[in-house]
Amino acid sequence: MRRIILVFVALLLLHCKKVPPAPTGLVADKVMVVSARKEASEIGMEIMKRGGNAFDAMIGTELALAVAYPFAGNLGGGGFMVYRMNNGDVGALDYREKAPLSASKDMYLDSLGNIIPGMSTIGATGVGVPGTVAGIFAVHEKFGTLPIEEIIQPVIELVDQGVEVTDKQAKRLDSYWDQIVEVNGDQTLFYNKCMPGDTLRYPALANTLRRIAKNGRDEFYKGETARILARFIQEKGGFVTEEDLARYEPIWRQPVIFRYKDLKIISMSPPSSGGVTINQIFKMIEPYNIGQYQHNSPEAIQLFTEAARRAYADRNYFLGDPDFVSIPLDVLLSRDYLNSRMESFSFQQATPSSEIERGTIPAYESSETTHYSIVDVQGNAVSVTTTLNGAYGSKLYCDELGFFLNNEMDDFSSKAGSPNMFGLIGAEANSIAPEKRMLSSMTPTIVEKDDKLWLVVGSPGGPTIITAVAQTILNVYEFNLSMQDAVNAPRFHHQWLPDYVTFEPEGFPDSVKELLKKKGYQINENRTRIIGKVDAIRVLEDGKLEGGADKRGDDTAVGY
Ligand code: DON
Repeated sequence: MRRIILVFVALLLLHCKKVPPAPTGLVADKVMVVSARKEASEIGMEIMKRGGNAFDAMIGTELALAVAYPFAGNLGGGGFMVYRMNNGDVGALDYREKAPLSASKDMYLDSLGNIIPGMSTIGATGVGVPGTVAGIFAVHEKFGTLPIEEIIQPVIELVDQGVEVTDKQAKRLDSYWDQIVEVNGDQTLFYNKCMPGDTLRYPALANTLRRIAKNGRDEFYKGETARILARFIQEKGGFVTEEDLARYEPIWRQPVIFRYKDLKIISMSPPSSGGVTINQIFKMIEPYNIGQYQHNSPEAIQLFTEAARRAYADRNYFLGDPDFVSIPLDVLLSRDYLNSRMESFSFQQATPSSEIERGTIPAYESSETTHYSIVDVQGNAVSVTTTLNGAYGSKLYCDELGFFLNNEMDDFSSKAGSPNMFGLIGAEANSIAPEKRMLSSMTPTIVEKDDKLWLVVGSPGGPTIITAVAQTILNVYEFNLSMQDAVNAPRFHHQWLPDYVTFEPEGFPDSVKELLKKKGYQINENRTRIIGKVDAIRVLEDGKLEGGADKRGDDTAVGY
């Protein structure tokens, strides 16, 4: 009798186990790069074809994005990398920008204590000490297999040969042209308007890269490049000095690791809020079995929104640079605490954000960052999100060196309780201090299933990064979409304050929105826009790889 019951239970389990969705994205045997531009994906791939590993490919892809995707790819910004070796070892690198030594808590406030508009967002005053070059050299030192010159060479060739301007790129450059010219004058490279099909060339960047390839990391932080960069930023009224550059160090960190059902999710730890916040969201929704509802149904949207509302309230209050503030992670991530946070949740009606925490309703802007995902032939995986913060960062372009500089200082909370350009309300934990790292939302993530590599995923999108990454994972795991379909699926976002749900322009029927409105959800109808731009890889049952390159951009998967 026992045997019959066991067989019955086994059959039932088998029956319940979802058949994995057939791939709809590019399928490759073993190796893949998915990034915001074909040129960058191809350079990563080339490096692996020549025997490099995922880390060598990371370096090439990161630099190639600075050439092909100057909107967010960068030498003048920073980022985070989460990795998983084929033996299961995981880790993370923080190459986030830092506040300069001269920074102070009230540096963006006037004498009356009001935020000076634009000071942390436009031009040299918003620039934090860049971390990207230090980041790639740290990766190379720890994991690189090819000589750095060999990795940088194809990027130099790409700069020399130039990059074709895509339609989307031409539109973006055009929409930021006024600001770029306002900050840099009419002698800047980008004064010449780019049309689709034009070739973008930056001779200065090729020279900078040649010097870096020859002299190594110190070229950027202590050498000729450092001198040119510090002088340039200061002449433009900014704060970054040669000393700031010389003192910059990236930091290897322990990623945030948590279980969701039979998945193990590995994501970025503070000073990014990404890992902690998706950890909270997943753990808050876990008891409700979201997969029983239809994808993007009112119930699924409600459950996710209410978890996000609570998680972002915590994010904004508790999180900051762990080298400066202590974060009560053991409480924030504990089952009891997260259960208690959801006690006020009901499918009957929305919980107003004012009942979760107090705050004011800010404006909401979007801009850009970029994510790429890589898997190599040995099965090592790299998930990297890198940024200048705003589109083209501070818009400050150093013509002599050939790259844009970040406006990452705006990710600090310039004034407690006041929103930054993403509408995020910060608190003391994320106030400005010399050499502190500003809180991020970047969420480079790797997911294991049955202890094996399963997904590599991440996105740009400021605060919407976290919801975009979480929804993409749920789309595959709970709603059984292929990697490509999961990436393309319409997304929505809630971040506690402002207290509204933002839906992408397409894919959410009015009936769903009306039902949510009846339950008390405020819906941001006038600012529908794309949410995130996810580049991801799924390992299929047969070990092949499926790419998910977001249809919202020029993103491209390549593989073999
Ligand atoms: O680190 C952060 O959270 C922001 N600087 C990211 C900015 C971003 O994603 C802009 N992209 N849409």
